[in-house]
Amino acid sequence: MAVSRRDKADFYTKKAHSEGYPARSVYKLEEINQTHKLIKPGDTVLDVGAAPGSWTLYTHRCLIKGNGKIVSCDLNPLSLDPVPPTVIEITGDAFSKEIRPRLVAEGPYDAIISDAAPMTTGNRIVDTTRSEYLAEQVTILAEEHLKPHGNMVIKIFQGGGEQEILKKMRTMFAKAKAFKPKASRDDSFEIFLIGLDRK
Ligand SMILES: C[S@@+](CC[C@H](N)C(=O)[O-])C[C@H]1O[C@@H](n2cnc3c(N)ncnc32)[C@H](O)[C@@H]1O
Repeated sequence: MAVSRRDKADFYTKKAHSEGYPARSVYKLEEINQTHKLIKPGDTVLDVGAAPGSWTLYTHRCLIKGNGKIVSCDLNPLSLDPVPPTVIEITGDAFSKEIRPRLVAEGPYDAIISDAAPMTTGNRIVDTTRSEYLAEQVTILAEEHLKPHGNMVIKIFQGGGEQEILKKMRTMFAKAKAFKPKASRDDSFEIFLIGLDRK
């Protein structure tokens, strides 16, 4: 029997809450990491667009397994209680002149993960342009502060210059590709760009 869009959304939301995660987005990172092995115990990880905190909590629990450091930055505070001991929470615009130097000071990073997304307006051009800006800024951070052999994943809205960013990532990484996790809503135009093994 076909699984409806609503059933799929409910399934992941209920599963997230039963496992103590604030958002269903955790299953996107789970699938990305299971298939691409981005993060390992002991890593220093930068999580951009981290609130409410599912990717951060999953990284703490399942990837660095409490052994490493996660710098979690968002415009809004994390809704994790307690915030795990491996996490340094930084609240504000990751690319502002006040916050960016604080992210840089905690690096360099073994992995940079970004689920950052703009507030959507419903205007596809506005939304994809804003998403492209965020993805470009994360890519620039990675160029400067991701360690050799480091890995990256960034979210971008399709139609927002993802081919250009992927082209740039192919110059930075041994392997770069676009990936759509199963937990991503069928009607979402998000896609994840994955870079493996920083040159
Ligand atoms: C889809 S949510 C992230 C969900 C998160 N990965 C989780 O698993 O809980 C996207 C987040 O990007 C954040 N964001 C957007 N622009 C940002 C910026 N310039 N700096 C930091 N965070 C930003 C938003 O505040 C929002 O919380």
